[in-house]
Amino acid sequence: MSVTVRDVRAFKERGERFAMLTCYDALSARLLDEAGIPLLLVGDTLAMVVLGHETTLPVTVDEMLHHTRAVRRGAKDAFVVGDLPFMSYQGSIDEGIHNAGRFLKEAGANCVKLEGGGRVLELVSRLTHSGIPVMAHLGLTPQSVNQFGGYRVQGRGDEEAHQILKDAKSLEAAGAFSLVLEAVPADLAKEVTGSLEIPTIGIGAGPHTDGQVLVFHDFLGITQGKLPRFVKRYANLGDDIRAAAQTFAAEVAGGTYPGPEHTYE
Ligand code: KIV
Repeated sequence: MSVTVRDVRAFKERGERFAMLTCYDALSARLLDEAGIPLLLVGDTLAMVVLGHETTLPVTVDEMLHHTRAVRRGAKDAFVVGDLPFMSYQGSIDEGIHNAGRFLKEAGANCVKLEGGGRVLELVSRLTHSGIPVMAHLGLTPQSVNQFGGYRVQGRGDEEAHQILKDAKSLEAAGAFSLVLEAVPADLAKEVTGSLEIPTIGIGAGPHTDGQVLVFHDFLGITQGKLPRFVKRYANLGDDIRAAAQTFAAEVAGGTYPGPEHTYE
């Protein structure tokens, strides 16, 4: 059965931990859906892990919609979250509502996700009242990487921690139905989670959030190089892909592929 916002809220009410994964294409969506992952986030990490950019900033609304449609086509039951990219909602409330609406109307997303605290409260409220559920995102919000001066853990000092807690409560009051907490100390994530009725979904936020999210290419070991310490690789597909490609090339060079079983008479 299709997952709805009510199911997401019910996870927390029942004290049931839940998983979200990022996803960017239809076949992967189908696999994750079949695996029972209830939430698929078409994250703006698309910019980095699929399109090869250095940050999430360059990805456009049209690129995000293109991939959200694909994920929607592949996901039968999963709740599809469309991520509003950088500068698609920061300029004005009207622009934010227009772009968020496109994710539901044109791409079949079930909700949108957006980053930030105080500055997005009015937009969150207007979207919610327009029938567009909002997943909020606090802590390390990668669209503000230039403002932060790098990808750093947020909320370490008392003042920053207090601000994140305050923003979380305000986002809940404005109508957000869930909250991503990225790269914050576990104690702060625990406090935020305990202070809210809506579920929190952590990434680098320790074990006390209601849900956990990882990036598809990270959790499958496709992303190469050093990863943040919170990432656990559940497979080593990067090595598998490299080895398979080398074997294919060697078999083609050696004339052993295609064999008779791959050949039409
Ligand atoms: O864009 C994204 O993939 C995200 C997750 C890392 C939470 O925002």
